[in-house]
Amino acid sequence: MRIIAVANQKGGVGKTTTTVNLAANLAARGRDVVLVDLDPQAHLTTFLGAEPSQSSYGVLTRSKPVAEALIPVRERMKLLGSGLDLAAAEQELVSMVGRETILRDALAAYEADCDYVFIDCPPSLGLLTLNALGAAEEVFITLQPHFLSLQGLSQLLETVLLVHKRINPKLVVSGLLFCIYDARTALSQEIVRDVTAFFDRQEEESPWRDVRIFDTRIRRNVKLAESPSYGRTILEYDLKCHGAEDYAALADEVEAMVGADEPMSAADVAPGGEGGSEIAQVDAVAEGVVGEEATVAAGEAGGAAADTEAMAGRGGEAGPGSGADVAGPEAGLGGRTIVEGSSPQG
Ligand SMILES: Nc1ncnc2c1ncn2[C@@H]1O[C@H](COP(=O)(O)OP(=O)(O)OP(=O)(O)O)[C@@H](O)[C@H]1O
Ligand SMILES: [Mg+2]
Repeated sequence: MRIIAVANQKGGVGKTTTTVNLAANLAARGRDVVLVDLDPQAHLTTFLGAEPSQSSYGVLTRSKPVAEALIPVRERMKLLGSGLDLAAAEQELVSMVGRETILRDALAAYEADCDYVFIDCPPSLGLLTLNALGAAEEVFITLQPHFLSLQGLSQLLETVLLVHKRINPKLVVSGLLFCIYDARTALSQEIVRDVTAFFDRQEEESPWRDVRIFDTRIRRNVKLAESPSYGRTILEYDLKCHGAEDYAALADEVEAMVGADEPMSAADVAPGGEGGSEIAQVDAVAEGVVGEEATVAAGEAGGAAADTEAMAGRGGEAGPGSGADVAGPEAGLGGRTIVEGSSPQG
């Protein structure tokens, strides 16, 4: 079973469209797929034609087991739906012990034989996204080639790094997907080149060192934008359009990923603590979570101070240079000419 969080704190970059249509393609190939809507906007839920519900809320507040909360939405596809209540859950979670690992524990207790779990993250780096990253073994990042998209990427990578160190050593960024891609613009091509070069340069041990930048790019396609209003996947809406072609090609790539379902062992990663148990580290992180703004701020545990600084000032889409001065992903992307030199999108 592969548990994959589809994440980017930037809004409107194709997370939900990818979750739905990749899952639909995998289900059509005989894979059993569970979809988790962790966005209070409930777009995934409504894209699939389901009614907004309290399912994810019930699981995250530990009042409902996953098995009871799942609803079948298509053949081989089950959904943990969301609704506006989920926004309240984020507040309620703040006072709970082990709040970043509730989803992980809930999924572990759900002993289903499914092949894939996809978690559709909200456009923020708050506790909901942390729960997704705490539960997942892989992250797929969707990116729309845009002059600000790289700055958001470095923030996301820092968050993944911290979750990897403190909460979930199995977590790796396994895929990066360009969505709403327009091959005709020089900017799109330039950003693809820059992102590829950035990941090629990563020599250090990092949770994204084996990232696959998918050859498939999801082209801008009006059918992909239309299909949700009919509650249909692209396979049900227009099997012949570019959008359907692209998501089928993506499903091929995802299925072919070798070793991605063999997560790194905890021994492979450097948790950075002082020999404390994983639980102690999780609690240390939990102590430092301060609502939806700062997301993860590591607490007093050994080795946490640098991380705490690294996370300071983390917001949704802050301006360039707002992140901390760390020799992490920021170092590679922060000074990029494309961010500073590009004119705003026309
Ligand atoms: N390849 C595409 N071509 C055209 N429109 C697209 C494409 N992919 C997504 N869209 C549309 O762009 C909008 C944003 O896509 P989507 O909802 O998948 O992004 P998101 O990252 O999940 O957004 P949010 O952060 O708000 O949850 C939607 O209206 C969707 O229908
Ligand atoms: Mg979405």
